[in-house]
Amino acid sequence: MGKGHLVPLRANNALLAGAGMNLPWIRSVVRAMRPYVPGEQPQELGFIKLNTNENPYPPSPRVIEAIRNAANESLRLYPDPTARSVREAAGQRYGVDPDQVLVGNGSDELLALIVRACVDPDDPVAYPYPTYSLYDTLVEIQNGRPQRIPYSRDFVFPAEELKRVQPKLVFVCHPNSPSGTPVSVDRIKGLAVDLPETLVVVDEAYVDFANESALGLVQTLPNVIVLRTLSKSFSLAGLRIGLAFAAANTIRELAKVKDSYNVDRLSLAGARAALEDYEWMQQHVQRIRATRHRLVGELRELGFEVPPSEANFVLARRPGQRLEGLYQALKQQRILVRYFDTPELYDALRITVGTDDEIDTLLGALRTMRA
Ligand SMILES: Cc1ncc(COP(=O)(O)O)c(C=O)c1O
Repeated sequence: MGKGHLVPLRANNALLAGAGMNLPWIRSVVRAMRPYVPGEQPQELGFIKLNTNENPYPPSPRVIEAIRNAANESLRLYPDPTARSVREAAGQRYGVDPDQVLVGNGSDELLALIVRACVDPDDPVAYPYPTYSLYDTLVEIQNGRPQRIPYSRDFVFPAEELKRVQPKLVFVCHPNSPSGTPVSVDRIKGLAVDLPETLVVVDEAYVDFANESALGLVQTLPNVIVLRTLSKSFSLAGLRIGLAFAAANTIRELAKVKDSYNVDRLSLAGARAALEDYEWMQQHVQRIRATRHRLVGELRELGFEVPPSEANFVLARRPGQRLEGLYQALKQQRILVRYFDTPELYDALRITVGTDDEIDTLLGALRTMRA
């Protein structure tokens, strides 16, 4: 290989952009779609970050230790493609067979591979709306037909309307983002029983902060799959670990469409340690629930409408009042919350439950702004 191989070539951007104007090699649905926009991740320090529902408390020291121990010469080898150690730990923790567990590179990856495995072009995929907006993106990429069923103003689960669509797949986010509101397990069960040909995907990213889980349904209902993540309650958003629970035959089919080595060695080591130190997670969940209770009360006193939240965030609403200015004013004070500029959410801010100090700073800022 000659030296020329290392010479950096400068792209002729004008030429490339002009010649490839229509990008015919990109699928038309991809060209037409708007990208999914995750919450801001400022690279400077100094922000109070209440915008992407991360946990303000650190992960278990046992996780850090396990990752350190795994950072050795074995990194030259691929990781276990079946993630057996984590499936076993999850099986033990949640009382399911390891064959009922699939490990993903975050639950986002699991959502993507469920859509890839289940949705043919034009298949209807239904979900109450507003909810996690990645569902829109994933269904569009797959050429499916997104069926957004509006939530009522107070977030009552629209079970009958979801059924009417006869969807191939339903997403139920429990507790829902961005409202924080729970969906009762009885209702989820009813939906799955009434739609036996539909896969009901219960996205439980925030369920450790809630009062009940649909996980038990996977033992009796073949068309229910429950997704969990270590990103929120376990304080491991940076590790990228998601878990899917379902009947073993569904898990086997989904595993066919995943990348072989979708979870790296360090993440596998950390995930197992996290699942084995469950008490660490539960302690922080208790603190966050207590702070949430206080935050909701104080926001209501400040005149916001706040639906009852069972997640680690709350939706603070001023009906009919555009809150983009308030979001910007908070950002100027280096407090980041989430603002969604959509017809359903323009009058709301989604606020992650941070530490007590962070929440005090936020509330102080809102009070001085007389927001
Ligand atoms: C409802 C919901 N599902 C899934 C995810 C993705 O989580 P993960 O970090 O496991 O990919 C998020 C992340 O914000 C979420 O809000």
